[in-house]
Amino acid sequence: MILKDILEKTTHFFKGKDFESPRLDAELLIADVLNFSRIELYTNHLYPLDSDQVQKCRDHVVRRGKGEPVAYILGYKDFYRSRFFVTPNVLIPRPETEILVESAVEWIKKTGKGSDIIIADFGAGSGCVGLSLAKEIPNAKVYLFDISSSALDLARKNSVQLNIEDRINFVQGDINQIDKSELGFEFDLIVANPPYIDKGSFDFDPLVKEYEPNEALFSDEKGLFDEKNWAAKAFDWLTPDGAYFTEIGFDQGDFLKEHFEQELQFQKVKILKDYSNFDRLIVASKSSSLDA
Ligand SMILES: C[S@@+](CC[C@H](N)C(=O)[O-])C[C@H]1O[C@@H](n2cnc3c(N)ncnc32)[C@H](O)[C@@H]1O
Repeated sequence: MILKDILEKTTHFFKGKDFESPRLDAELLIADVLNFSRIELYTNHLYPLDSDQVQKCRDHVVRRGKGEPVAYILGYKDFYRSRFFVTPNVLIPRPETEILVESAVEWIKKTGKGSDIIIADFGAGSGCVGLSLAKEIPNAKVYLFDISSSALDLARKNSVQLNIEDRINFVQGDINQIDKSELGFEFDLIVANPPYIDKGSFDFDPLVKEYEPNEALFSDEKGLFDEKNWAAKAFDWLTPDGAYFTEIGFDQGDFLKEHFEQELQFQKVKILKDYSNFDRLIVASKSSSLDA
């Protein structure tokens, strides 16, 4: 079978399954088997696959056909400027989370804090957010926190692969239970992507729920429990001119902004939108003189 035909057949099969990006999924899976870039799929469209390659493509397609996410089949996902190993123990990094990294990098540059800063990533998962920041800010020390030891094992593997493991610390535990006295220092910046999906929500993608770790997704109190508690920890653990950046659900911005201002006394709080124009981030500064 030639490449062009297998690509067409796979795309057609995925379209029939109503997948969101049938062509892209087919390209990623077939390119992985052939060790081609996506461009090379088109510059080699008459490439004849041998029987072993056809079988490997079939295996990938069968798994995807049952609903398994492409990133778990490939074992990696590209995020921001790097490639991260992923397993079913961690949430697959989402493109909309890249603005958490982008806006945090912008803030560090704007504050003139230099690169000798201490950063925490709450709920690090694969490490995609904290490790991307460590790569961008060459002297930063980064602490990755997660309740899941298997997630932190994978984050460690990612830090080694990115060659930055000497600046990364891994802290396993429940953020809601860790006390400031166990740390002995404060953070200049804390970034977070907490679980924020309402456990009772009905319109949530059932395949995401089936394949991705539920403790990475769902939170009590209509999805707000961890958002509120992690922000309180952040307020307590930040330096007086530090800032907290947290990803939020599209409908949580107004409530959380008011909560951060009234209950936690962050001085400047703003909501940022993602590229689809949904509320996606809250940026909260402890000091009124440092605009986030
Ligand atoms: C939404 S995922 C974010 C993963 C990664 N930062 C990303 O953006 O792709 C949330 C992460 O928080 C971790 N987590 C959930 N509850 C936690 C808790 N109470 N304390 C620490 N980590 C927790 C989960 O294990 C998961 O890795």
